[in-house]
Amino acid sequence: MQETKKKIKQLLGELDGLLVAHFYQKDDIVEIADITGDSLELAKRASESKKKLIIFCGVGFMGQSVKILAPQKDVIMPKIACCSMARMISSEYYDKSIELFEDYGIKKETLLPITYINSNAEVKAKVGKMDGLVCTSSNAKKIFDFARNKGKKIFFLPDKCLGENLAKVNDLNSAILGQDSREKVLNADVVCYNGFCSVHQLFTPSDVDFFREKYPDILIVVHPECRPDVVEKADFVGSTSQIIAYVNSLPLDQKVAVGTEFNLVNRLRSPIDGKQNTFVLSSTIPECPTMNETTLKDIVDVLQAYKNQSAYNEISIDDEISKFAKKALDKMLELS
Ligand code: 13P
Ligand code: SF4
Repeated sequence: MQETKKKIKQLLGELDGLLVAHFYQKDDIVEIADITGDSLELAKRASESKKKLIIFCGVGFMGQSVKILAPQKDVIMPKIACCSMARMISSEYYDKSIELFEDYGIKKETLLPITYINSNAEVKAKVGKMDGLVCTSSNAKKIFDFARNKGKKIFFLPDKCLGENLAKVNDLNSAILGQDSREKVLNADVVCYNGFCSVHQLFTPSDVDFFREKYPDILIVVHPECRPDVVEKADFVGSTSQIIAYVNSLPLDQKVAVGTEFNLVNRLRSPIDGKQNTFVLSSTIPECPTMNETTLKDIVDVLQAYKNQSAYNEISIDDEISKFAKKALDKMLELS
């Protein structure tokens, strides 16, 4: 493994590339990455970097975001792995949702679409065309503060859990399109698309109860993609970076149970004197399978191919799609 890491460093040096990794990547990848972060940090830092070549270890929408924000860069993904939530909505399903609003008597012009960054470029472009914007788990509160003053009904996609959680903290009514009644959709301030993260769905209120009963002083920390009935019971809710910062701010003997992907949780804190103080908030392994597909060998292979001028897995986005997706992303960056 050391040899493979050395080879990656050597190729990155020769090609002047930047290795970027999301926190859910495997440990050996996070260890050698030049940049790690949550979705917002990675999109910003990779697109603003001086390097022309970006090797992005994460899921498809993350590499796409960098390419949209910095089209002059070569963005390559060792594995084009897809976020299962992002796959729950396509541009066709976006159009069908707008048709359903219109069938309910809600005019397109009265909607403000907000897409979670976990969506593909085509969906972001649809949102940009309707003067909507993107949000991530770390800036969602700010984006909602902006959106609620626009006097429009918010169409939040694709994550119903994040949408409902945000509506709740902002004292807004929410409904789920295609699941709740027309009446409820008509009365809602925030209407959520019916998507979700298959990993964060694994955390349940009984998991929280189990840990609280076992360790009465434990703190429960979760990602906002968790179900609302889990978020409601938590002591802290935040993006992956915010979770890391929060846990690092606690005394080492403070017990915490964390509801997010297990690679991140397992790296948080080592046991002290053999005593474990950090727990995964689930009895099932919360693994994001597609995030875990990328290996060190994939990184070497993709760098070697780029060096031999036979690059593959290079992100490319149609100009028209990119233009409108950028509009939605830029609006978010202005506000964050
Ligand atoms: P963050 O933006 O918090 O890193 O979240 C990305 C993600 O996909 C969480 O499941
Ligand atoms: Fe997508 Fe969930 Fe994996 Fe995050 S954890 S990348 S939302 S499938």
